[in-house]
Amino acid sequence: MVCLGNICRSPLAEGILKSKLDDNHLIDSAGTIDYHEGSGPDERSVKTAFKNGIDISMQKSRPIKKSDLENFDLIFCMDKNNYNDVLKMADDSQKHKIRLILDNQLEVPDPYFGGIDGFDNVYKMLDESCERIAEKIRNNTI
Ligand code: 4NP
Repeated sequence: MVCLGNICRSPLAEGILKSKLDDNHLIDSAGTIDYHEGSGPDERSVKTAFKNGIDISMQKSRPIKKSDLENFDLIFCMDKNNYNDVLKMADDSQKHKIRLILDNQLEVPDPYFGGIDGFDNVYKMLDESCERIAEKIRNNTI
């Protein structure tokens, strides 16, 4: 799961998808910038997840690295900037792994500069998309 800072959107996506799949799946998140490296998720993401029964407080921000493109089968990006940045890091043979997390070219809006409502909205979008992704992973149709 990839966003810009790895403190708002992708930590939520990581926590939500983990809650829907068993521990045999390796699920992680990262950012395209290293500005927040080592920090926990934004307090608003932690609260929003917690309200929905998910604890993401132990996560730590890290930048995406080239080996992630080898080690993970699928890389879901929150918006088109993240998608294009990850695509630039990929070899041709890895490009098929990189997706936008929402269908139809839609983007998960960055809630960082807004209020708590934005985090509730992001949670809802990610919960729906992760449910679809989890279903496809369970059925081997992704
Ligand atoms: P995220 O949100 O990409 O969902 O983690 C942001 C976090 C930090 C910044 C921007 C967006 N920032 O400008 O530091």
